[in-house]
Amino acid sequence: MPKAIFVCDSCGGETAKWAGKCPFCGQWDSLKEIERVIGKKPRKGSVKKAYSPPQKIKDVESDGKNRTKTGISEFDRVLGGGFVRGSLVLVSGEPGIGKSTLLLQVANKIPGKVIYVSGEENAGQIKIRAQRTGIDSENILLFSETNLESILDLIDKEKPEAVIIDSVQIMYSEAFDGAAGSIGQVKEITNQLLETAKAGETTIFLIGHITKAGAIAGPKTLEHMVDTVLYLEGQRYHAYRILRTQKNRFGPTSELGVFEMTDSGMKEIPNPSEVFLKERAGDLPGSVTTVTIEGSKPFLIEVQALTSTTVFGYPKRTASGVDLNRMQIMTAVLSKRVGIKLANQDVYLNIVGGILAKEPACDLAVCLAIASSIKGEPVDQDTVAFGEVGLSGELRNVTFITERILEAHKLGFGKCILPRNAEIPEKFESKIKILRAKDVREAINFALK
Ligand code: TYD
Ligand code: MG
Repeated sequence: MPKAIFVCDSCGGETAKWAGKCPFCGQWDSLKEIERVIGKKPRKGSVKKAYSPPQKIKDVESDGKNRTKTGISEFDRVLGGGFVRGSLVLVSGEPGIGKSTLLLQVANKIPGKVIYVSGEENAGQIKIRAQRTGIDSENILLFSETNLESILDLIDKEKPEAVIIDSVQIMYSEAFDGAAGSIGQVKEITNQLLETAKAGETTIFLIGHITKAGAIAGPKTLEHMVDTVLYLEGQRYHAYRILRTQKNRFGPTSELGVFEMTDSGMKEIPNPSEVFLKERAGDLPGSVTTVTIEGSKPFLIEVQALTSTTVFGYPKRTASGVDLNRMQIMTAVLSKRVGIKLANQDVYLNIVGGILAKEPACDLAVCLAIASSIKGEPVDQDTVAFGEVGLSGELRNVTFITERILEAHKLGFGKCILPRNAEIPEKFESKIKILRAKDVREAINFALK
């Protein structure tokens, strides 16, 4: 086995030979020589694990009991009911989105000692942030350090409940050559922190930056190493931030929580549907409300469509918050199966609020919004619609019918258009008017009356 390998800074690919251009991703000058870590001297702070014999699965104790709630309930829910002790959680997002703010607030609520390691800001700067967000916990130890070995020593000494590393890209380990932030360093650091987390009872939160292009120099290559991956996303100039689970060894994925960035830190939004629908323009053509499920939670969102006659060249199709391919299928279904002419129409589609309507259940709302815009007739504000649309224009059943109707009812909607063979508990029929449609054509007739 060769002593040294070359690792690409940009994609993490490994080769035995140096080359000017990475053979995997084509990036120039990104291969860095690193020494193989296998067989190196034991690292400082690492605990040698005792050999444990195999066990029968029914005798194994589950880790589920070991959960700690932070008290920020949306954060806990996204994690699947609090964090599991001894786990490694990666929180990633674009710079400036609010990762440090959120985790400082989480640190404030964790019952027990928390070490907040900041390599990016000094203690004074963090103090300003803490004052702004009203953080006063006695239990937070601030540590301005970028050297991993010192951090591991401190963890060993203090045995905290949780450690927050802000950020993984700025830390460096002496056990490894290479600049801070390089793929090799980031992997090495994560490995060592993983060992520390598993050996003790400490939960480690790693903050990782991703770049605008989404090509994640760092966190992406870490996803398979850590237990849980959370993404904080949103538009920088909009106040809403969405926290999503990308991966979770101890809970459901695709769980989602909504926060708002305010003057005094991140605020939980426990009822986002209300917020997303607050600014609806009223009875205007092209606006339809639908219910989408993210993880286990239903969200009401507004789908907006705008059609206008194409003045030059090909008709345009633009989608924001909806998959463009899906939208193109819907326009084809509308032209072919319903007879709505879109060949000379530009179609723009938008989802308000930053939630993505990537679920097939949103198909019907997309079709209704386009139909409503082109006919110039509004859909009743009182109506929600959901259902998957097939290529023949038929309306197909979707999951979580009860949850969707309940959420719509809770927010005062009176009418619901859904697939014909949806199974609905009888008690709903009295609460909300249910209109069952067999296909898109029928649904449009119900909606545009
Ligand atoms: P920050 O948590 O530093 O982002 P990240 O760690 O992801 O890079 O937050 C960045 C932005 O949030 C910053 O531009 C200022 C703003 N902010 C508020 O609006 N309110 C607040 O209370 C705080 C602390 C920050
Ligand atoms: Mg930060």
